[in-house]
Amino acid sequence: MAKDKAQFVCTNCGAVTSRWQGRCDSCGEWNTIVQEAGPSAPVAIRTGRGRPVELVALAGATSTVPRILTGIEELDRVTGGGFVAGSALLVGGEPGIGKSTILIQAAAALARAGKSVVYISGEEAVDQIRMRAERLGLRDAPVGLAAETKVEDILATLEERKVDLVIIDSIQTLWTERVESAPGTVTQVRTSAQALIRYAKTSGATVVLVGHVTKDGQIAGPRVVEHMVDAVLYFEGDSGHQFRLLRAVKNRFGPAAEIGVFEMTGVGLQEVRNPSGLFVGDREGRSPGAAVFAGIEGSRPLLVEIQALVAETSLGTPRRAVVGWDQSRMAMILAVLEARCGLRFGQHDVYLNVAGGLRLAEPAADLAVAAALVSARCGAPTPKDSVYFGEVSLSGAVRPVSQTPLRLREAEKLGFSQAVLPAGAADGVRTGLAVQTVTTLIDVVADFV
Ligand code: TYD
Ligand code: MG
Repeated sequence: MAKDKAQFVCTNCGAVTSRWQGRCDSCGEWNTIVQEAGPSAPVAIRTGRGRPVELVALAGATSTVPRILTGIEELDRVTGGGFVAGSALLVGGEPGIGKSTILIQAAAALARAGKSVVYISGEEAVDQIRMRAERLGLRDAPVGLAAETKVEDILATLEERKVDLVIIDSIQTLWTERVESAPGTVTQVRTSAQALIRYAKTSGATVVLVGHVTKDGQIAGPRVVEHMVDAVLYFEGDSGHQFRLLRAVKNRFGPAAEIGVFEMTGVGLQEVRNPSGLFVGDREGRSPGAAVFAGIEGSRPLLVEIQALVAETSLGTPRRAVVGWDQSRMAMILAVLEARCGLRFGQHDVYLNVAGGLRLAEPAADLAVAAALVSARCGAPTPKDSVYFGEVSLSGAVRPVSQTPLRLREAEKLGFSQAVLPAGAADGVRTGLAVQTVTTLIDVVADFV
């Protein structure tokens, strides 16, 4: 018989290797590979014939997936119109960001609407959850609470009753008898998640798994279960800001990239129904280095201020620091500005920040980032009340992006008067904004020098 061999597993992505490595080949993270005991009960491969399953026709009675709406609009939007019965979701985010808070709020809302909701916490005692619910004004909601971490016991509890929604807070605290490793290890997280997902599929209940994102790689990250669940929602924003974004990064039953915006208050997370002007700073007395990006998040327009600081360096290698945007994308914009526009950054530290703790992924932000960098480098503010959007290519050309009318409409609604955008993008678009078109970054630089 084969001996149980130890295996090496990445706590970030779950990749398995045969030996220890400093860096995971699969996800590229450093120091995330740990040794774990192999599966304790190897599955014996039995020969023999399987039982044929019945195939059903694709064409036939269509059924719309049954969904349960929480009534928290920002949450329902991110899930694509409510939780789907029989599906499993992962809600990830850094500790303290508000995962438990939003889920207890959702649980209470559904319980009040007559759904059967169970909240299982492996992190807090029942009294602690009750105290939190009381503070949120949710004490009267008939949510079933339990503090439990053993998967077999959780499933036994759930099988006793009809359940519509189960919240497991968090997946990293769970353990199952079937594997020997400690809770929080990749094998435990994966096996426990599998059991709960199977429960969701067979019972028709929605299962929400909470997963902590950890930087140190001590416990397995939510990425280990990302591909197993139907939808993955991530909480963003930093604890220093009151705004929280819930973003769908994967959704089998709705649009991905949709966001919900919340504000953390003394009485829990409040919805921000119209967030588009939230991330734009003071528009009077603008200082150099700020440019407003007319972006789209999911299905909604969102205007965001991008801030850059360019200062002469005292170091041999100048510093580059980016918050809320892709570091290599900024390096590319800087290189294009140097190579195509003759603007030197080699002797300067460059800092870039997206307002409000937001993370931007749209390439359409390129032009606004370039404008902020040029404005900071030249010490001249961007024109008052103007917005920017457009993608920048390596040649320095500025390319049109999708949804120009929506971006312009939102900017106009928020009182902006000018838009700087790629040539051709606004052709045939009716707008009250003064439109300045640019074909290359050289046109942008010309505004500041
Ligand atoms: P929590 O939901 O416990 O975070 P997570 O489950 O993601 O770890 O959120 C905890 C933080 O939120 C904590 O720092 C306190 C803050 N908070 C409020 O500001 N107001 C509230 O009403 C609640 C419940 C929490
Ligand atoms: Mg929590």
